Amino acid sequence: MKNAVHLLNDGVVALNSDTIAGLFIKYDSIQGMRELFKLKKRDKNKVFQVYISSFSMLKKLGIDKENINILKRSLPGRYTIIVKTKLDIPHITKDGYIGIRYIKNKEINSIINNIGPLAATSLNISGKGVKELDYYKKIFPFVHFGNLKKIKEGKPSSVIKCIGNGNFQLIRPGAGSLKKFCADIAIASDHGGYEMKEYIKSILLKMKLNYIDMGIFSEGSVDYPDYAQLVAKSIQKGEVKKGILICGTGIGMSIAANRYKNIRTALCHNEDYAKLARRHNNANIIALGGRFLPFKKLEKILKIFFTTSFEGGRHLKRIKKIEKV
Ligand code: RB5
Repeated sequence: MKNAVHLLNDGVVALNSDTIAGLFIKYDSIQGMRELFKLKKRDKNKVFQVYISSFSMLKKLGIDKENINILKRSLPGRYTIIVKTKLDIPHITKDGYIGIRYIKNKEINSIINNIGPLAATSLNISGKGVKELDYYKKIFPFVHFGNLKKIKEGKPSSVIKCIGNGNFQLIRPGAGSLKKFCADIAIASDHGGYEMKEYIKSILLKMKLNYIDMGIFSEGSVDYPDYAQLVAKSIQKGEVKKGILICGTGIGMSIAANRYKNIRTALCHNEDYAKLARRHNNANIIALGGRFLPFKKLEKILKIFFTTSFEGGRHLKRIKKIEKV
């Protein structure tokens, strides 16, 4: 450990994190930052994550009380949590946000206790998978590999952005469960439903329902099954209870999400559909047609969907039959 502390004073050190191996520098080291950008041939617009080893370090990183409390709810854990910061350090902050990691790892935490927060990025080269240690030693000749004997590989951290009012964006699904973020709803769309998704978020705010937005985050063509999967799996894992999926017609999202066990997605065109989808089908996802349903109908439809209870009884027997297929 002493060695790593010494080496971090002016260089880049490779260490295993709780998820995958990473390249670490002191968070405010200009020299380290330059080397890291060079080594990873990284786009200058992409920032590094900042590792802390205690919540008392967050104030120095420009994070306010509200966001510190959110971080306390979920960390330490397998997350990179992006929160607002008052700091402006180009290699670790972007548009007023900073990505924080706080993991359960004795080696890394004792280094941070000694020299303060670290900035890091993963060791692997994106798109190339994880390779043997010797490979990285060859391509990163100036990195200190210290005690590293075996490269850790696994799911990377879940990257979650705090967007205020208890709502979040899932920027990258990963190893950390979303349960700790206590959201009521997961919402996602493809390009055909993007505009409607953004509008629905203002309705959810009014209804005081917290959400995790699972994408998309900007216009541009994507495949709806990828987003149906994110929401369906999140419900299956018990991270959220219900979901909203929007594509052009709502049909693609319904077909895709209904392939997942215990997921009952209902394509709703009006309030009656929403009411019966809950009462009779115990639907846990509402699908909407972003290109067909007038936006002015949404508030009532969603209100009914999220406040109507399942009737059970004969309807329960029928739902059980679906799961036996
Ligand atoms: C995308 O153009 C469109 O096909 C999709 O949004 C959806 O309507 C599929 O069912």
